[in-house]
Amino acid sequence: MDIVDRIKKLKKEKNAVILAHYYVRPEVQDIADYIGDSFYLSKVAVSLKEQTIVFCGVEFMGESAKTLNPEKTVLMPDLGADCPMAHMANAETIQKMRDTYEDLAVVCYINSTSDLKQYSDVCVTSANAVKIVKALPNKNIFFIPDRNLAHYIAGQVPEKNFVYNEGFCPTHERIEAEDVLKVKAEHPEAKILSHPECRGEILEISDYIGSTSGIIKYATESEDQEFIICTEEGVSYKLHKDNPDKKFYFPESVPTCPNMKKNSLEKILHVLETGDNEILVTEELREASKKPLERMLELAK
Ligand code: 13P
Ligand code: SF4
Repeated sequence: MDIVDRIKKLKKEKNAVILAHYYVRPEVQDIADYIGDSFYLSKVAVSLKEQTIVFCGVEFMGESAKTLNPEKTVLMPDLGADCPMAHMANAETIQKMRDTYEDLAVVCYINSTSDLKQYSDVCVTSANAVKIVKALPNKNIFFIPDRNLAHYIAGQVPEKNFVYNEGFCPTHERIEAEDVLKVKAEHPEAKILSHPECRGEILEISDYIGSTSGIIKYATESEDQEFIICTEEGVSYKLHKDNPDKKFYFPESVPTCPNMKKNSLEKILHVLETGDNEILVTEELREASKKPLERMLELAK
């Protein structure tokens, strides 16, 4: 039996389901029961009947799934798959902002640890941040951890006063406008589609800005035939699959997230066989970090 069949067999035996983000390897996307962006995966996580969730993504995703489903077992193929941005804020700064600004909402990008979520008022993902920030009653918004996404949202919601935090995604931060424009010069008809984790100089030259699902949807529904993709290269698998006749280009230094790539078929098989790498969150932390996640799910409806 090959590894794919072994995983499928074990999945049935263990009453398990596999969730995967678009940034993981193609063979991992292929074995997944649900593939999507962070918002989709967090919604799926609360609707599953299976007892075990194998989360092929990074740690904050597994943590969120566990927080929302305490009775389920959440396994990560590699516990070392951690998002560096998820740690780029701290409780002291949050408290300082609360002391400084009246009428403040601490808005926490879902790409953050449970430790940070517990001090926040609401979570957002790139797919729902504009809608949720607009719906908040507060005038002042302290957006953690991602400064690039915060600047993008601030531009979409000018009626709010944004306070920024210095976090960033190393994978998106590395994308240079010069490299993107070089690809554009070679393919002048191509539309530039970018993730809001990119720096402002990239967003300024983009034709579309959105989450990974948003980028895939835009490219799929567009009459255009060529696209320059400014996000992690894992999305190219779904883009090509759904649009075999369209052309997709990446900047020369292709954006790759080393943590997302830690997920592999061998590691999925291992956690299904052994039950290793279970995500555990203390009850106190879970209760506190669940509130902003649930508020996100409510406000995004
Ligand atoms: P989305 O899939 O929500 O666009 O998130 C991108 C990301 O960086 C996940 O780590
Ligand atoms: Fe974190 Fe960026 Fe990797 Fe997403 S792509 S998991 S934000 S480092």
